[in-house]
Amino acid sequence: MHLIELHDRPWFPKFLRDFITDDLETILNFVNVYGPVAPPLRNALRHAGTSRVVDLCSGGGGPWRRLWREFDKNALAEIWLTDKYPNIAAFERTTAAAGKRICFRGDSIDALKIPGELKGFRTIFNSFHHFAPDDARAILQAAADSGEGIGIFEAPGRHMITLLLVLLIPLADLAVAPFTRPFRWTRVLWTYLLPVIPLVLLVDGILSCLRVYSPAELSELARHVRPRAQDGAESGQGFEWNIGVENSGPFRVPVTYLTGYPKPVAGTIFIDNQTDEVKTAAA
Ligand SMILES: C[S@@+](CC[C@H](N)C(=O)[O-])C[C@H]1O[C@@H](n2cnc3c(N)ncnc32)[C@H](O)[C@@H]1O
Repeated sequence: MHLIELHDRPWFPKFLRDFITDDLETILNFVNVYGPVAPPLRNALRHAGTSRVVDLCSGGGGPWRRLWREFDKNALAEIWLTDKYPNIAAFERTTAAAGKRICFRGDSIDALKIPGELKGFRTIFNSFHHFAPDDARAILQAAADSGEGIGIFEAPGRHMITLLLVLLIPLADLAVAPFTRPFRWTRVLWTYLLPVIPLVLLVDGILSCLRVYSPAELSELARHVRPRAQDGAESGQGFEWNIGVENSGPFRVPVTYLTGYPKPVAGTIFIDNQTDEVKTAAA
């Protein structure tokens, strides 16, 4: 269903949006929702032949404060956090927690217009449902055209367990708000006295579950995406898509994913960046 979430509207106050993305980051990392998708992401990075990630729609830092620990430096050397409405304080916190492996862009980076210098495997956590089908397809097409791999990871979903947990998010928010960094009295005010933050988290959480693409819909979006040359014609380079659902996390929340990466032309000799082995691409 194409609905618009409150915190996504341009008129939504920036300080409240930052509180919301901070709280979401704290809750999602506490329950390690995205931990189970490390293996498919590792696999996609290996096939894409890169150890650099450009994370789009990063919000409060997304899963990276925890997730980067699942990758050794060969597999994932650098992660760039970006957002259309960057939450700089949260980006600084995430980078401080991860040494030099995580960096961020402080300017506005629209997932629909990624600057050419931001090269690397593109990831989108918890946000692909913010894009209507034409824009969602354009994001996949842009990755294919620029020869970059892409991974979409979505915890919202129309599953009973997910909907039940979404109903608990406002309660979780009441519990974590005083511990969410940076501590702000205004966060306390907008959580307990005027509970706008837990209410927006609840409404947007439900809307996310209604908006999110199912595996079949993701497959339909990706089906016709083929890398194109500058003149707009198909370049002939293959692109491989994988779709799956991982639910091995602590609450068994199903996380839907779509990964895609350029397929080396059969017979090409390449170096596997994670094992340093010289390999020949299969047909
Ligand atoms: C639900 S938050 C997800 C944040 C984070 N990835 C996570 O997993 O917690 C959605 C984020 O998408 C960002 N966003 C919305 N439209 C965008 C666009 N066109 N380009 C880049 N970011 C966008 C919003 O600013 C917000 O931070």
